[in-house]
Amino acid sequence: MCGIVGYYTYNVRKDLQFVLDCLFNGLKRLEYRGYDSAGVAFDVDVISEENGVFESTGPLIVKEVGKVDALERMTYDIVARDQLDLKRQFRSQVGIAHTRWATHGPPSAVNSHPIPSDPEGQFVVVHNGIITNYNLLKAFLIKHGEVFNTETDTEVIPKLCKFVYDRLAEKLVMEVLKKLEGAYAVLVKSTHYPGELVACKRGSPMILGIKEEPGARRTSFSRLHDAADTKWRHEAIECFIASDASAVIEHTKRVIVLEDNDVLHLCSGGYGIYNTGGDDVEEAVPRVLLTLQMEVEQIMKGGYDHFMQKEIHEQPESLLQTMRGRVQFQRPAVGNPYLNQRIKLGGLAEHGATIRRCRRILLVACGTSFHACLAARQTLEEMCEVPVSLELASDFLDRRGPIFRDDTCMFLSQSGETADTLRALEYAKAHGALCVGVTNTVGSAISRMTHCGVHLNAGYEIGVASTKAYTSQIIVITMMALQLAEDSISKRERRDTIIDELGQLPGKVRRVLMLDSAMRELAEQLRSVNSLLFFGRGYNYATVLEAALKVKEVALIHSEGMLAGEMKHGPLALVDKHMPIVVVATRDGMLKKMESVIQQLLARSAQLYILCNENDESMKQYEEKGCKLIQVPQTVDCLQPVINIVPLQLLSYHLTVLRGFNVDQPRNLAKSVTVS
Ligand code: F6R
Repeated sequence: MCGIVGYYTYNVRKDLQFVLDCLFNGLKRLEYRGYDSAGVAFDVDVISEENGVFESTGPLIVKEVGKVDALERMTYDIVARDQLDLKRQFRSQVGIAHTRWATHGPPSAVNSHPIPSDPEGQFVVVHNGIITNYNLLKAFLIKHGEVFNTETDTEVIPKLCKFVYDRLAEKLVMEVLKKLEGAYAVLVKSTHYPGELVACKRGSPMILGIKEEPGARRTSFSRLHDAADTKWRHEAIECFIASDASAVIEHTKRVIVLEDNDVLHLCSGGYGIYNTGGDDVEEAVPRVLLTLQMEVEQIMKGGYDHFMQKEIHEQPESLLQTMRGRVQFQRPAVGNPYLNQRIKLGGLAEHGATIRRCRRILLVACGTSFHACLAARQTLEEMCEVPVSLELASDFLDRRGPIFRDDTCMFLSQSGETADTLRALEYAKAHGALCVGVTNTVGSAISRMTHCGVHLNAGYEIGVASTKAYTSQIIVITMMALQLAEDSISKRERRDTIIDELGQLPGKVRRVLMLDSAMRELAEQLRSVNSLLFFGRGYNYATVLEAALKVKEVALIHSEGMLAGEMKHGPLALVDKHMPIVVVATRDGMLKKMESVIQQLLARSAQLYILCNENDESMKQYEEKGCKLIQVPQTVDCLQPVINIVPLQLLSYHLTVLRGFNVDQPRNLAKSVTVS
């Protein structure tokens, strides 16, 4: 939800063009996080006509409803206009930018960020998150004569900065932060501190990218701290701040993931990180400098029209990456001491024994990640022989569901930042459960807060609709189940079959992707329907829920995934000859029951599309009755959902393109839901 970008350089004042490129390119990378409106604020230094020296003017703020492209054009128009008028050269040292997913106040120019404290822009702020006590703070500030211009919660931050500055002048941002409740990642720039930037975070993600190799040294640090204090300070000529790595990677791979309550201060050619520790102690803290493993190509479309399309087609490779180094695909010879250890998940090594002994396993997630839990739950139950419960994170929190010390709670999240999942994790941890994280984002809040976990390694997912993360999540839970059951002799044959099929999976997914043009044709037929239903059961209940979610979120068609066993208990009433229905009837223990569902739907003249296995003779009769078949390769039952979802992802993709909607940025949505 919302993306923020900051740029800072020391000494060398960069061309304004360079700074703006940095900010706009960063925003474009983060646009998937929110795209209601966007804005930038940057210092503008102009050459004085009198003495030829650069002089700073106040920050220039440009913001507007709509996409980053429009904002960029608007900004350059303003810059060009001023250049023409003033005939002066422009330079800049600090800039901040924001792309918004509206929470408080509708999308409008005034509610867009950056938000200034006053018309002079003494303090200018971009913010990602929600300030939950903003009403109290607003009332307090209004009582002290402040006039609010926006409907946002954010406006209390620049106004508080000014309020505290007018009274305290020092330790300013920290004083402000102590008053805020809720979640935030905030950048603050101020005319009182030209050429400086302060960033801070609690609950919302933020990283610092550093261009120059820093040499750590201890010096005193001004402004935020007494000069007498000795604090950690690091040199850096250029710094890039952003909500995630995609906005930084083209400049540097050296990053620091900021932690909650960190305050980052950029000034005088260096940065210092301080932590309030949630109380009054303000300590300078050394943070680990990481090297990003990702490449710029990973965040480019690479020949595809859309990220969603690219990510669907990447699945053979992303699945392989998820399994790489973790699965021994060849069966070891009988007698080999490692016969049962064909799966190695390093992340479970330390806590594997605790999980095996636990009272129950809870899988907690939201949206598509929840569907992945549903798809793999049966395998976990079968292998571990402990009860496995599924929890939608928001519902679990609403109920304050019971958690016991001998529970194992697994938190699945592609982004690793989803607010509800994070809050559920805090809740489970406070109740003493073992917490396991499964995320696709190294250094994310969930991966840092859990006791142990497994990374998806699926590669960067940018399309708002999750695709490749879903299939990798199913594989990770399946691998966990297989590893946890490695001591069971009775399950060896079944385990070996599943592991053998894991090896075949990328190739089979590659084959399913060849259905691309068939799915496009199907999308042509379905592009104008009002409603699309999906029926499935067993392992494929998850498949139909996930397919319906994809269709509704990107193609904007009403769609429901239904448990076929529930059909007669209500949904059948919807069925007539106008209702298109996709039935998942691949060959597993549910096939007979699914055939009976098909018969009942045919008896009500439904338009049926049957997703079945290749060369399934029993399906021919339905084809003769006018049903369309979508034929996919067969694998072992518990992995079939990985194959089955692929043509349905393609279908939702093509429906969206044909209907003329934005594939990668569906209406009203954002990739990382960092607010509850
Ligand atoms: C749908 C989708 C969402 C996410 C959900 C959880 O395509 O992407 O439903 O799955 O918002 O996000 P993560 O997995 O990042 O916790």
